[in-house]
Amino acid sequence: MSKRKIVLIGCGAVGSSFIYSAINQSLAQEYVLIDAFEAIAEGNAIDFADCQAGLDHPFTSIKSGNYNDCKDADIIVITAGRPQKDGETRLNMVIDNAKIMKDISLQVKKSGFKGVTIIASNPVDIMTAVYQKVTQFDYHKVLGTGTILDSLRLQHLIAEKIEVNPKSVAAYVIGEHGDSSMIPWSSVSVGNKNIYQQVAEGRIKKEELNQLRDEVAQRAYKIIKLKRATFYGIGVALALLVRNILEGQNNILVAGAYLQGEYGHRGFYIGVPTILNEKGWKKIVELPLTKEEQIAFDKSCAIVKDTLEKTFVTI
Ligand code: 2OP
Repeated sequence: MSKRKIVLIGCGAVGSSFIYSAINQSLAQEYVLIDAFEAIAEGNAIDFADCQAGLDHPFTSIKSGNYNDCKDADIIVITAGRPQKDGETRLNMVIDNAKIMKDISLQVKKSGFKGVTIIASNPVDIMTAVYQKVTQFDYHKVLGTGTILDSLRLQHLIAEKIEVNPKSVAAYVIGEHGDSSMIPWSSVSVGNKNIYQQVAEGRIKKEELNQLRDEVAQRAYKIIKLKRATFYGIGVALALLVRNILEGQNNILVAGAYLQGEYGHRGFYIGVPTILNEKGWKKIVELPLTKEEQIAFDKSCAIVKDTLEKTFVTI
């Protein structure tokens, strides 16, 4: 296995949760942590270094660094941005975080980085587009976390209801990682049996599907109300994307990818199923959508597109 290097930009709770997952899964040998507050990056680097001797497959090095460290990295993960306040939507943070993202993008570009970038900063669909526009990196080498976390939440909630392992649930949330995200239920299956068949066989009630949709969409608000921020879920989601990219196995996972005519839309990043390999996202997978599902997805796309246009005018 070649030596792998991951750079994290933004060492708050989300970034740290990602690194904690990454070192426990031995995703890389070298880690560099960058934060606008250098002490945070340094403190975390020392704290993570303390894990090294206790890991089954220890990394070689972890340190705080700067943008020069991006040059030979395989993957950059960006989680920088101001935190979402209780009751605030992700879209409310767009201008504050777009300015931060523009600054980061310019510095990464200057470093000569050639690898794949994964963005988790919110509102993620907009932040991913801002980063790609400023860096002008290949669209396929830039991806957002999109609705991967929403999809993991849905998988978990369906599995809990039907009392099966979440690995037996194939369920995607697509669209904006935000209030307008939608579930293409016609493609959801449990053990290869469509969810409507599960309803017909009495394992889950039709009205419970709508409750699950609301629960997934409200999940982050609920967690933020209880403990001020969400971080473990997105930390694992990031590690999952990184692992699938590094392993290059063409696995299909939901991520924020750039639409170029797929699903009837073009010109922005949004959460959709994608084929992932070492070059980033190779291809968008187009699910067959019912008429109602297409309308809900179109609405979500319109929100992302509109916010993006306004953001580009402002930054
Ligand atoms: C989440 O969904 C807040 O976007 C973050 O957990």
